[in-house]
Amino acid sequence: MRLDLLVDLWGAYMLDVDAVRKDFPSLKEGRVYLDSAASSLTPDPVIRKMVDYYSDYRANVGRGIYGISRRATDEFEAAREKIAAFIGAGRDELILLRNSSEALNLIASGVQFRRGDSVVITIQEHHSNFVVWQRVKERLGIDLKIVKSDRQGIFNLSDFEDAIDGKTKLVSLAHISNVLGVKLPVKEVAKLAHDQGSLVAIDGAQSAPHTSVNVKDLGCDFFAFSGHKMCGPTGAGALFIRGDLQEHVEPLCVGGGTIEDVGIDYYRLRRGPYRYEAGTPAIAESIGLGAAVDYLRSIGMQNISEHEQALTRRMMERLPEVPGIILYGPPNASDRAGIFSFNIKGLNSHDVALALDSAAGIMVRSGHHCALPLMKDLLAAEGSVRASVYLYNTLSEVDLFADALTEIAKTMA
Ligand SMILES: Cc1ncc(COP(=O)(O)O)c(C=O)c1O
Repeated sequence: MRLDLLVDLWGAYMLDVDAVRKDFPSLKEGRVYLDSAASSLTPDPVIRKMVDYYSDYRANVGRGIYGISRRATDEFEAAREKIAAFIGAGRDELILLRNSSEALNLIASGVQFRRGDSVVITIQEHHSNFVVWQRVKERLGIDLKIVKSDRQGIFNLSDFEDAIDGKTKLVSLAHISNVLGVKLPVKEVAKLAHDQGSLVAIDGAQSAPHTSVNVKDLGCDFFAFSGHKMCGPTGAGALFIRGDLQEHVEPLCVGGGTIEDVGIDYYRLRRGPYRYEAGTPAIAESIGLGAAVDYLRSIGMQNISEHEQALTRRMMERLPEVPGIILYGPPNASDRAGIFSFNIKGLNSHDVALALDSAAGIMVRSGHHCALPLMKDLLAAEGSVRASVYLYNTLSEVDLFADALTEIAKTMA
């Protein structure tokens, strides 16, 4: 009997996937959702928490002194505290924003770059961690260095050593690639960068939902992530900025809420996260993200990771059986997260995705996955099909997917 089956039957990890699935109202009969890397589904406790806000204490935060406004503020701040603790940050180091893209833009516009500085990124970055730096290069004349991996997504640390030097102001890289599912050597790179006196930003959009993160342990100065990929609502994300750095990082927007004092000819920004949160924030969404953190923690990040590893092992056993498949990323299940990009020889990725949906109700992403430099430079492909798993997916869904894909490959190619 296969090891992953034993794990499943004997419950070596403590995730009851049938119970988990009951929490997700959009997991309806006949739907197989394999697109969590784009956006995850939302469980009932998160939806209820947001409905409570709208129906019980709908008011602005940080302003009113009446009861329900104080309650809204308390719930909003409690969410901040939980989200911060989820990644090992202090509450004053956690800025509530809309998503990873906004967080990465904040870093790019907030750090004071000068001509002659360099920024180091990798070929595997999502556009949100690529274009932002191309723009800084265009506007301020910084040198943008791009570290490449091999085709499977594996980096050579010496390439980072060569790229990072005394002129490097910042190194910004993904924790997990949204195309190859490969885990980047973020801790090692952070050490190299700090040894050269440069700052380190991690794009955690694909890691925070799936694995325990501790920003202090990673040794980063910035960590960006998106709530909608981790069982939270759309419109809520967060950015960790190391506390002592904050006075050197400008906000993206200023206005109501960001100001300690203002007169006709001066203004003084607040300290802490409020400095970056201009105007009325996404109140219900941030409270919802706090509930998503509670939800994930109640299941246990370790259990979620192990469940996804079991699904990954099954995927990596089944996918190579599909006729004509070109599977990208590392061949070993242990080197990858639950993201599987591939093409079927002779078929367009969108056609495969459409066929999976119409034939078997299987939802996957197709196209360039907002990672065109990786697609063009590394994979020499216009796009790929991408399946991605999360805590609510099952081994039988993986089998269903592999069977449907085999059928499509046989009949369409
Ligand atoms: C690695 C990575 N970075 C950044 C983003 C952007 O996230 P968002 O759309 O939530 O801003 C994504 C989204 O897919 C991603 O996968």
